[in-house]
Amino acid sequence: MTASTTGPDTVIAFDHVSKTFPGHSAISDLDFRIGRGELVSVVGVTGCGKSTMFNLTLGLFPPTAGVVRVQDHDPHRDFEWFRKRVAVVFQDARLLPWRTALQNVCIGMKFAGVPKPTWDATARDWLARLGLAGREDAYPHQLSGGQRQRVSLARAFAVDPELILCDESFSALDEITAQTLRAEFVELVRAGGKTGVVITHNIGEALSLGNRVLVLRPPGHLADDVLLPTDATPEETAALRARVLRAMNPSAELDPGAAAAPNTDIAQAGAQ
Ligand SMILES: Nc1ncnc2c1ncn2[C@@H]1O[C@H](COP(=O)(O)OP(=O)(O)O)[C@@H](O)[C@H]1O
Ligand SMILES: [Mg+2]
Repeated sequence: MTASTTGPDTVIAFDHVSKTFPGHSAISDLDFRIGRGELVSVVGVTGCGKSTMFNLTLGLFPPTAGVVRVQDHDPHRDFEWFRKRVAVVFQDARLLPWRTALQNVCIGMKFAGVPKPTWDATARDWLARLGLAGREDAYPHQLSGGQRQRVSLARAFAVDPELILCDESFSALDEITAQTLRAEFVELVRAGGKTGVVITHNIGEALSLGNRVLVLRPPGHLADDVLLPTDATPEETAALRARVLRAMNPSAELDPGAAAAPNTDIAQAGAQ
């Protein structure tokens, strides 16, 4: 099967994709597929090409070589088709500071082409689902970092996208807030039957989020594709963590304790 005919169950297809910026290669021969309803983490050291992969999926620029397909469409050429089917959550909430939480969620629906009469009720519903009932009229500066990210998630879900992409969306939050929000995110993705891709540099997050981990290694090539068991024992989780660390940086001397730590980060792995 080629990427130009990916079939209804394939949401993202990278078919031998490369992306070169002047002077260097950010993605090289990246080849993978993500199916409908999957929740996949993409992990790798800083600079390994995670955001470039994300931007290719969003169609912000075309690949230098190979084919990118999202639901059998070219995301770069079919941008209009695309904008209401894919939602993005970044590391910072990217809210308009002069608009309330409610208005910020409505702006997402406006951009996606959702009919205006439904905006208000849908925005209130999603803010409530994300624990912000009563804070609809708050401005971003009146909300905590975690609450601002909740607004950003509400804005993403409110357009009822088929695919949600998160680029380090939980990375700037304190660990307790991140854990809570991550769990709520997983629940909402699963309940809505969405497909989710979460970019992270945190191995603990990658292993706890979804059903699969794609490991990237510079220059943007797939080092491992790890399926996660639903009920992993602590020993299995430690083995998976060690496998992911090895794939990220095969030359790193692994501290045996690092593999068992709950939230091993790149720096601890001695990768960069
Ligand atoms: N627009 C760009 N122009 C030039 N180089 C870029 C651009 N975007 C990313 N890169 C380079 O491509 C490589 C991969 O970057 P990126 O995808 O941002 O990695 P990650 O998100 O994993 O940290 C890095 O070396 C980065 O400097
Ligand atoms: Mg990045």
